[in-house]
Amino acid sequence: LRIVRTAAEAALRCDRYRAAALSIGFVPTMGALHAGHASLLARARRECDRVVASIFVNPTQFGPGEDLARYPRPVDADLEVLRGAGVALAYLGEERDVYPEGFQTWVEVERLTAPLCGAVRPGHFRGVATVVTQLLSIVRPHRAYFGAKDYQQARVVERLARDLHLSTEIRTCPTVREADGLAMSSRNAYLEGEARRAAARIPIALEAARTLVLRGETAVARILEALREAFRPGPDLELEYAEILRADTLEGFEGGSARRSPGGILIAVAARAGGTRLIDNVVIPPEGA
Ligand code: PAF
Repeated sequence: LRIVRTAAEAALRCDRYRAAALSIGFVPTMGALHAGHASLLARARRECDRVVASIFVNPTQFGPGEDLARYPRPVDADLEVLRGAGVALAYLGEERDVYPEGFQTWVEVERLTAPLCGAVRPGHFRGVATVVTQLLSIVRPHRAYFGAKDYQQARVVERLARDLHLSTEIRTCPTVREADGLAMSSRNAYLEGEARRAAARIPIALEAARTLVLRGETAVARILEALREAFRPGPDLELEYAEILRADTLEGFEGGSARRSPGGILIAVAARAGGTRLIDNVVIPPEGA
């Protein structure tokens, strides 16, 4: 594993891989690596000649009052995970290098960032889109891997790669879950006791909603009602949003009826378990897909 800390060094190494006709698979992360990241690294390893991973806790995607300062940064353990996964190059971004003096260029993806996390975390996706564009310009990978837990992020990244004519193919990989169904997330490390137990109600609620849709229910209001019922909010689990949208455009369903549209149906929730913000979703593909 080669470790580099500047964009210039990372770009140089990646240029060399390309010059040697080696395909590059890229996994951008903010560290605190878990089994979800490991699955992205494993897939990149299977599909590409060289795997490049970045670790950078990107300050511009955190809002005021969010957990930037306390975000876990177990760098040594992360590097062990990267070594074990056969990663060739680790780019450990440094804030002054990623955002140099005088920085003033931002990437904004418009409609896709309006609902869901975009609505409740103003500026979040501007930070994500900007840093992902920077990382893709530095590494210029053949393929880049993102987790489906961050469904809106994956759609936003696909869109920006297309709109900015980046040559990278964006791959979205299935959410990896704990034994009780809780989606893997670096923020799960904050969960303790009752909050951890309560967090497991999130996938149960999503499953209840999915079952209803698969049985033929189309009324968004009734599906949301079933989801909220299974969710059972309480002192340890608070629902921030629950939404049912077209999975491709992230637009609402006209007339409040979620038909098995060609784009599929996204059921997405954000919740706080003991103060820790968690997101999760299920996507129901179009009938016959
Ligand atoms: O999903 C993440 O870990 C981050 O949002 C990403 C894509 C690495 C950008 O900072």
